Amino acid sequence: MQPTDDLIARLLAAARSAQSHAYAPYSKFRVGAAIYTDHDHIITGCNVENASYSLTNCAERVAIGRIIVERAGTPLICVVAGPKPVPLTPCGACRQVMLEFNKQMHIIAFGSDDSRADFILRDLLPASFDGDALT
Ligand code: THU
Repeated sequence: MQPTDDLIARLLAAARSAQSHAYAPYSKFRVGAAIYTDHDHIITGCNVENASYSLTNCAERVAIGRIIVERAGTPLICVVAGPKPVPLTPCGACRQVMLEFNKQMHIIAFGSDDSRADFILRDLLPASFDGDALT
C-alpha cells in the first residue's frame, strides 16, 4: 500500500510519543518507531538500553516483537523518529529482523527537524539472507 500523508502524520506522532518513553541512560540517544500493519494497527517501540550495552534493543525490534505478541498482522509501514536533525535509518540488525516479516515494507525515517527519507526495506538490505536459504 502507498502511505498517505495523513497516515504518515499519525505514525510520526506515535513514533515521537514512543521516543519519549525510550530507556536510553547510556547513549542518551532516544529513538521511537511506529509500525502500521495490514490489520490497521499501529504498534510502537522505543530503544531499551542495558548496562551491558550489547543487550540493548532498538526501537524497531521492540515494535516488531510487540506485533508478534499482539498478533497485530503483517508490518506494512515503519516510521522511525530519531533525536538528531538527520533522518534516522534503521541499523543493520533491525533491517534483518524486519526483513523476516515483509521485504516490501515502507521505511520512513525522520530526524528531529522533521527531515525525512523514504525507502523500501529490500533496498536497504540487498542480497540478504532469509528463510529461503534454509530450504
Ligand atoms: N537505535 C535504535 O533504537 N534504532 C536504530 O535503528 C539505531 C540505533 C538505538 C540503539 C541505542 O540505544 C541508541 O540508538 C544508540 O545507538
